[in-house]
Amino acid sequence: MRISSVIGVIMLSSLTVGSAIAADSSHLEGATLYQQNCAACHQANGEGVPGVYPPLGSRLAAWSEIDSGRHYLANVIRHGMMGSITVSQQTYSGVMPPWARFDNAQLASLLNYITETLPGDPNLDIEEFSAEEVARLTEKSVTPLQVHSLREEALTQLKKL
Ligand code: HEC
Repeated sequence: MRISSVIGVIMLSSLTVGSAIAADSSHLEGATLYQQNCAACHQANGEGVPGVYPPLGSRLAAWSEIDSGRHYLANVIRHGMMGSITVSQQTYSGVMPPWARFDNAQLASLLNYITETLPGDPNLDIEEFSAEEVARLTEKSVTPLQVHSLREEALTQLKKL
């Protein structure tokens, strides 16, 4: 009992040190948050599982270049989504869980990670998300079904370009 509680204390303190280091760099933090919370479904490299969990590839970078796309991306993580979507000719009808536990800075790091680092395309020139922008974009609470409509809006705007 005593030994295990000592080990517990040591583990806790190394965890605290680890997260302090990760917070130094927004990109590093985004990568850590992604691997801990998202990779189980969307996979470590973002390729997803066909027909079950959609891939999060370079297509998200295109969305980050338009207003409705930035609005959608911030909301799909914070508020989750329900309703069927089609990506690369595959239909997905699962549920994206809401992530209310992330603060605005953490959500911005995650968004920068999935739009910029994860696709890994050096030619992409992405405008980074800031905590302030995330706060503004997600100010209004929306239901997972309303988030699905935000996705439709972003797709419509993308097709008009
Ligand atoms: C339990 C599995 C699961 C986890 C964990 C999960 N997602 Fe999802 N995610 C989904 C599913 C399923 C969808 C598609 C929902 C639908 O069909 O409406 C989705 C959709 C998305 C989309 C929209 C993709 C598109 O093409 O519109 C993004 C972006 C996304 N997830 C990011 C994340 C991030 C970032 C995390 C971690 C914080 C995460 N997801 C964690 C299952 C998951």
